[in-house]
Amino acid sequence: MHSHISPKKHWLLTFLALLLSVVSITTATPVCSKKCKIDPAKLPDLMAITIDEISTQLRDGCFTSYQLTQAYMARIRQVNCTFHAVLEVNPDALDIAKTLDEERASGKVRGPLHGVPILLKDNIATRDKLNTTSGSYALLGARVKRDSTVAAKLRSSGAIILGKTGLSEWSNHRSDNSTSGWSARHGQITSGYYPGLRPEGSSSGSGVAADLGLALGALGTDTSGSIIAPSWRNNLVGIRPTVGLTSRALVIPISERQDSVGPMARTVKDAAYILSAIAGKCSADNYTSAIPFKQIPEYWKDLNKDSFKGAKIGIPDAVFKKLDIPAPFKEEFDKAVEMIRGNGASIYKDLDFKSYDQYNVFTANHTLYMACGLEFKTNIKKYLNDLEFNPNNIRNTEDLMKYTKADRREEYPDRSIYLWEADTKLIPCEDNTCKLAWDITQLRYQLGGEGGILGALASAGGKDGLDALVMPASDTLVDIAAIAGLPVVTVPLGFRPKDTEVKKDERGVVTAAPNEPFGLLFVGKAWDEQKLINYAYAFEQKTQVRRKGPKQYKMPTAQIKDYMQTKP
Ligand SMILES: *[C@@H]1O[C@H](CO)[C@@H](O)[C@H](O)[C@H]1NC(C)=O
Ligand SMILES: *[C@@H]1O[C@H](CO)[C@@H](O)[C@H](O)[C@H]1NC(C)=O
Ligand SMILES: *[C@@H]1O[C@H](CO)[C@@H](O)[C@H](O)[C@H]1NC(C)=O
Ligand SMILES: *[C@@H]1O[C@H](CO)[C@@H](O)[C@H](O)[C@H]1NC(C)=O
Ligand SMILES: *[C@@H]1O[C@H](CO)[C@@H](O)[C@H](O)[C@H]1NC(C)=O
Repeated sequence: MHSHISPKKHWLLTFLALLLSVVSITTATPVCSKKCKIDPAKLPDLMAITIDEISTQLRDGCFTSYQLTQAYMARIRQVNCTFHAVLEVNPDALDIAKTLDEERASGKVRGPLHGVPILLKDNIATRDKLNTTSGSYALLGARVKRDSTVAAKLRSSGAIILGKTGLSEWSNHRSDNSTSGWSARHGQITSGYYPGLRPEGSSSGSGVAADLGLALGALGTDTSGSIIAPSWRNNLVGIRPTVGLTSRALVIPISERQDSVGPMARTVKDAAYILSAIAGKCSADNYTSAIPFKQIPEYWKDLNKDSFKGAKIGIPDAVFKKLDIPAPFKEEFDKAVEMIRGNGASIYKDLDFKSYDQYNVFTANHTLYMACGLEFKTNIKKYLNDLEFNPNNIRNTEDLMKYTKADRREEYPDRSIYLWEADTKLIPCEDNTCKLAWDITQLRYQLGGEGGILGALASAGGKDGLDALVMPASDTLVDIAAIAGLPVVTVPLGFRPKDTEVKKDERGVVTAAPNEPFGLLFVGKAWDEQKLINYAYAFEQKTQVRRKGPKQYKMPTAQIKDYMQTKP
């Protein structure tokens, strides 16, 4: 986002900024200036604080980023032993906060994220003291040559990279019998809504951390639901952007055609702020060259709770009937549809995904898996060989298999390496430039696009088709969008009832429980994030599901007011 300021104006602005900083030095006010209109005892709870509140109160001198960062670090310490959500805290976070406070005091405010702590999934590389390991010991101590593009963009927008969150190891591209939210480095992550509850994955730690207010929000990555599912399971808003809207450069990959980096936050507006900060073209990820915008939209700017007025929203319920959607999800979904209709949308029911049965066949016989497998083989090799320091000299999938089998902390064979074995044994070509890869990619776009989401969007609503589809939380429905690289937004929809029977998997991880949150999905055409965000915002504002719903069974207690006296 470049500003178009003429050199003359620029000079004038610099002069004014200088003047202001001189004024602010000569009238040097204490940290808690008189401008702050809030009694410290009434500062917003970090379970619910928003970016708008943080930036207003930082501006008014109610607290500093330094103090805010201290409070978040204390919260992480308070609950990490229970939830395992935050793998590493950035040892430089307080220094960065202090620098950003000084910048603000001198009159430079970079934007809405200035001084706001954000956590990153442990597959998003940073060139700082934090490791980037995908939860595996194989990469502990590895060093990248520079920040991933999304991390660099966050930094330049003024966000504080507070640390790295745990995940399903290798974003779930390793084992066929591990559990969501488990990695060798941090063990099993669990969700705040029931002891031992599966956090979903693979951006599990980002989900739990954003939910419990261990940072303002977090970045996750999504190949096939890895942002969306942990967002709905942790009562959050999650955005899986169109593939290419956010750069994957120096993000540990699975599949270049499906991977997408996106925000996970407690409100739609906060997720939109973060998305605008990380989106954009990047020469190191050529998929971003397809971005159709001259300037990345300010997704947060014109949000309006009346966005359903005049919208054409489709429901592929012919597909829902073939899926095992839990009764509470279905009930809340039906209510949501009536609410959306009541707020002025035209609802188009009985839509279908023409290729759904074919999609099932190709899923069952692993054809769709092979596409990701092929890309993983190719893409991981590139990531590993681009490292500046590669402590275990791991260069490809074979090396990874060898390492993982040998390091007992990786819990092999109890947790298998089946997906890597499949990549190397079952896939009949070496990299993703072979004809098979091309054929499967066309198949993916067809099944998820014309035969899936795009076909349904075009099947009603006149010449221009529909604006979006709305659907209940379902791994299959997200996958159908993901295989075609399409965007998905999830917003809190409801919770399983209090009398839900608790279910566990073979490893004792809870898979269904009272109060377990679930979400509502909006899905659309490539680059239609703004529409999906608008609908999610309207739904959130009218329903306030997150705010009114059940609370987590354990919460951190540290708050900003506990750190008001601290100074660097
Ligand atoms: C990164 O890993 C190394 C071990 O190689 C460890 O010493 C260091 O503390 C880790 N960094 C952080 C920020 O935890
Ligand atoms: C959080 O707990 C996990 C599991 O014990 C551990 O691996 C991780 O390093 C802890 N994080 C911090 C910041 O101490
Ligand atoms: C990006 O580059 C790869 C290989 O260099 C190519 O296969 C792919 O089609 C390119 N993608 C775009 C969107 O240009
Ligand atoms: C999967 O099923 C499709 C459709 O029947 C078939 O064309 C394809 O060859 C099968 N692939 C594998 C790997 O079995
Ligand atoms: C996971 O799979 C591996 C290899 O197939 C097997 O040895 C191991 O016992 C399995 N673990 C569990 C808990 O089923």
